[in-house]
Amino acid sequence: MRIDILCLFPEMFASPLDQSIIKRARERGLVSVVLHDIRDYTHDKHHTVDDYPYGGGPGMVLKPEPIFEAAEAIEMQFGMSDMPIILLTPQGRLFSQDVAQGLALLPHLMLICGHYEGVDERVCEHLSTDEISIGDYVLSGGELAAMVVVDAIVRLIPGVLGSQNSADIDSHSGGLLEYPQYTRPLAYRGWQVPAVLISGNHGEIAQWRRQQAILRTAKRRPDLLEKGNLCDEEKKWMLENL
Ligand code: 6GU
Repeated sequence: MRIDILCLFPEMFASPLDQSIIKRARERGLVSVVLHDIRDYTHDKHHTVDDYPYGGGPGMVLKPEPIFEAAEAIEMQFGMSDMPIILLTPQGRLFSQDVAQGLALLPHLMLICGHYEGVDERVCEHLSTDEISIGDYVLSGGELAAMVVVDAIVRLIPGVLGSQNSADIDSHSGGLLEYPQYTRPLAYRGWQVPAVLISGNHGEIAQWRRQQAILRTAKRRPDLLEKGNLCDEEKKWMLENL
């Protein structure tokens, strides 16, 4: 997969892209992330990327020309491609694991990092094919949001995680929050690991984990419960144990 990112601060990406899972995926050729500085596509002496809003008001607005020119330069490299061009903005549709799954299937995508003051609406209307927000709060720029999106997508690309891990994500948690995890020591400051986890009974362990995931989701994120596909027995158990 190739991800082209258009932004004002490409240096921000250096560290996150050079650690851990994304670093290894890049080294293994499973993903390539290419950064483009929107400023490089300006033509004036001062490399102006923003300007005052028509109609007045506070803040500055990102100009359309350098963004269109940067995006078109990338498109030209790949012929008439139908890659999605995603604008990162708090006005976008909400990012989720489902959105990440969909994007992880694509061979190529382009991310454009907006800025909270705004992007000229003609970029949204005539260049981007999608707008994504990572949550209901305002970041100073789309760069951090793009890093979140890239991280969530890259770990879903086949081969990036061990097959064991990826299977976990799909079948185990299945829309619910994760069950509690423990590792050694068995007792820490007097706090014991739940006995069922050292019972060696895989059926009971799986049942306990499923129940814990249900309980935790019901308490913390009841809005997610319907994605967990609870059977009638599980629903009954949940209501008795809440
Ligand atoms: Cl994608 N951009 C900005 N600037 N702020 C955000 C966001 C994106 N998603 C949530 N807040």
